[in-house]
Amino acid sequence: MSKDPPDWLWQGLPHLWLPYTQMKTAQPPLAVARTEGSRIYLADGRVLVDGIASWWTACHGYNHPAIRAAVAAQLEAMPHVMFGGLVHQPAADLARRLAALLRGDLTHVFFSDSGSVAVEVAIKMAVQYWLNKGVKGRTKCLAFKGAYHGDTFATMAVCDPDEGMHAHFKGVLPEQIIADLPEDEEKLAVVEALVARHADQLAAIIVEPLAQGAGGMIFHDAEVLRRLRALADKYDLLLIFDEIFTGFGRTGSMFACEEAGVVPDIITLSKALTGGTMALAATITRTKLFEAFLSDDPARALMHGPTFMANALACAAANASLDLFEREPRLKQVAAISQSLTQGLEPCRARPGVRGVRVKGAIGVVEMEKIADLDALKRRFIEAGVFVRPFGRVIYLTPAFTIQAEELKLLTKTVVKIVG
Ligand SMILES: Cc1ncc(COP(=O)(O)O)c(C=O)c1O
Repeated sequence: MSKDPPDWLWQGLPHLWLPYTQMKTAQPPLAVARTEGSRIYLADGRVLVDGIASWWTACHGYNHPAIRAAVAAQLEAMPHVMFGGLVHQPAADLARRLAALLRGDLTHVFFSDSGSVAVEVAIKMAVQYWLNKGVKGRTKCLAFKGAYHGDTFATMAVCDPDEGMHAHFKGVLPEQIIADLPEDEEKLAVVEALVARHADQLAAIIVEPLAQGAGGMIFHDAEVLRRLRALADKYDLLLIFDEIFTGFGRTGSMFACEEAGVVPDIITLSKALTGGTMALAATITRTKLFEAFLSDDPARALMHGPTFMANALACAAANASLDLFEREPRLKQVAAISQSLTQGLEPCRARPGVRGVRVKGAIGVVEMEKIADLDALKRRFIEAGVFVRPFGRVIYLTPAFTIQAEELKLLTKTVVKIVG
């Protein structure tokens, strides 16, 4: 039952500037009427099984009744109040719960409204940490090839400067120290030499632990993170884990740092924090970092405060999401998804043009030698009734943890068929 495109689409579309889109040549986007579970209901009557969970956020599926109820109740009491000089229970509860969930003394929570801003805040905290301690010149980060940390200026500067999507801005962005991840002893020696050479300029090391997401869905071992912790300790650098993609179960443990047994000095969270319902992010630090901002001098405070930080509706959604992680077997579901992705995508390995197949937690990746026409590939998935958004050379699945077995099977079968 196909319907004509809705009027709102044709009336509004000329005014919309879409993300990561060449507006001259792009196909019109799909008009969505509603979502439920792992299904996207289009305005023209088609229904797509979602393989992406809205950029990895909707970990409990869309419209989870428990999150909806929590947001509706909060809406009655207070949708938002500024966080300057005022606090509220949803934020206080959420900060306490995040501090309890994270290992070690990652106990001080600064809320913001997007992942990029959470990373900006982490970098700003790291730089100011040294300034507050009276150490000048430690303003740079060591970041890694394949990294993606966001689209704002400080975060673009710690993305892969050559292969990343922000390569245009080389020369405009503050130059950072970029290395290969220390995946073996040889690479570790190179990274260590770089750190030793720049130690008096470096504030922090920043990494997406276990899985680099938007830079290519590239995985590394937990040992890499232990090496980075040891390097940071040896050269007295702060270690930032950007868990905006990996946090809340995506790689198989609640946080990727748990698998490595490493406590970073700063961790950033967003995306699945609210179960994908609302915009919210958090930058969480260890005590030593927080204490470096304590002073009788007001200038040593962290001068940051996004207008919508700790939005009450978003905090209510996040608390409801954490309740679901406590009540429902999310990590077991991730383990089951991991198995299904491994089995379901395996046939791709033998197909011509496939460079590799890899799975980590609820992330399944088929890496191609190249994808000649991304738009055509996206269209084929939609024609097959699934929503999958390949980029670069990769076709990937990051479904909701609550996806039904037959929905997941449809996703993997479609990938196999299309890779074909
Ligand atoms: C690891 C990581 N860091 C930061 C970001 C930026 O988050 P946002 O898009 O909410 O600004 C992303 C988004 O994909 C991410 O995957």
